[in-house]
Amino acid sequence: MRYIFTPEPVGSFACDAVADGVWLKETDQVGKSYLPDDVRAAVVAELKRRGFEGREGDVIALSLLGQSKIKQLIVAGLGERGKIRPDQFRTLAARILKTTNGLRAKQLYAHERLLKAVKDQEQAAQMWVEGVELASYHFHSFRKHTAAEEAKKRTAVEVLMPMNPDKNAQKKIQNGVDRGVLLAQATELARDLVNTPSLNMHPHEMAERAKALAGRGTNVTCRVLGRADMERLGMHAALAIGQGSQHEPKFVHLTYRPPGKAKKKIALVGKAVTFDSGGLSLKPAEHMTDMKIDMAGAASVLGVFKALPKLAPKAEVHGVFIAVENMPSGSACRPGDVVAAMDGTTIEIENTDAEGRVTLADALAFAALKIKPDAIVDLATLTGAVIIALGSDVTGFFATDKDLKRALQQASQESGEPMWELPLYKPYAELIKSKIADVRNVGGRPAGIITSALFLEKFVHGVPWAHLDIAGPSYAEKETRAEWPAGGTGWGVRTLLNYLNQIQ
Ligand code: BES
Ligand code: MN
Ligand code: ZN
Repeated sequence: MRYIFTPEPVGSFACDAVADGVWLKETDQVGKSYLPDDVRAAVVAELKRRGFEGREGDVIALSLLGQSKIKQLIVAGLGERGKIRPDQFRTLAARILKTTNGLRAKQLYAHERLLKAVKDQEQAAQMWVEGVELASYHFHSFRKHTAAEEAKKRTAVEVLMPMNPDKNAQKKIQNGVDRGVLLAQATELARDLVNTPSLNMHPHEMAERAKALAGRGTNVTCRVLGRADMERLGMHAALAIGQGSQHEPKFVHLTYRPPGKAKKKIALVGKAVTFDSGGLSLKPAEHMTDMKIDMAGAASVLGVFKALPKLAPKAEVHGVFIAVENMPSGSACRPGDVVAAMDGTTIEIENTDAEGRVTLADALAFAALKIKPDAIVDLATLTGAVIIALGSDVTGFFATDKDLKRALQQASQESGEPMWELPLYKPYAELIKSKIADVRNVGGRPAGIITSALFLEKFVHGVPWAHLDIAGPSYAEKETRAEWPAGGTGWGVRTLLNYLNQIQ
């Protein structure tokens, strides 16, 4: 996508599509200043005929059929005057882009009446760009494309925006555009990683993708360990889960150091099961189909690291994941096996399909004991139960620390990635007691999300910690919002980046 600022008044140059914004019941404002009076009157009448009132989120396209230099007019409803939230504006931008694609328009001009719906023009530009970018995501799949699809792929939309005559104001708007592109591209990386089949996204490949984000000029370093080193570190829990696979487990540790003195040290931990067959506690076929997505937590951590060099937050950021493939075989771990995590805690693996928490035990213990951060945030496609509880859009959220909780909730609101807090209800720790080990990896069906979180908590050693169970929103079976295409969504990338960015 290209973003071009123009000082030319809209209507004076040829343009495939112009997006105008209208507040509720103010449709008579549409086209003001750039459409000839008779055309404008016809547009207003047509909107009325079609029952378009400017309700928030409604988008309608009208062909101007040679009546103006503008070929198509896209009218976007802003809802009650002054009330639209930035995240709603982002979704609106995504809808406008989808409409533009549907019209096969090659240029899209964003009218200032639309962009001024959000007061802060830097934020408006960022939301506009995020929406446009997130909605135009395309996974380069392995499918043969029809000629029409190929043509559509090649015609990237040129996005035109009015140039602000005030230099300072324009600079801020440009910052907003740049940040929008940065956040969206980071999200895209996570989506690509999730959408790639497990055949091509095994532990070694995940480690290679991590390494590719480090290097000169990035302030990012990357350390990768294989089985032998992991054994030396005592990561027997994660190794047990990976031992049934032909693919060697990989431990990955990324570090971003800010140019100045770091204000805080934050560790991001991601679940990275590159395929979850369930292991010997094998999943039924219909539950196994989408299990290439079981590394979405780590994918989002990698997305974050892609943006860190340019975003340059004031925090030192560590990214940790242990990539394993959970497979049944003669060498697989068995239900009933007991293994020790790197902090010495012994785990009875009662069900090999509750594998994520067992791999996270070592990743979290490493983060807590070796990195010693100010806070740990983990993202994991941990339970099917969270999908039953919160559905396809909402992440299950746990936090042990008030400040961390507030900061993440605010970041989640900003990014438009919803999450809902669940309790770390201590008495349920009874449910994961084992007769022969310090803890067991399942606690039965009741409160399955909570017991999975209580299991993880044992490995953070008192470090302020938040756990995000992203099993629902990390993958969309069908598009539920214009900015979340079907497939990997990259949930959490923008929330984490917003969170890191507010650290002062
Ligand atoms: N990776 C799954 C959770 C999952 C399910 C993610 C559906 C995305 C979509 C996880 O490893 C798992 O299998 N959890 C089990 C735990 C159970 C055995 C205690 C589950 O939720 O059924
Ligand atoms: Mn599983
Ligand atoms: Zn899993």
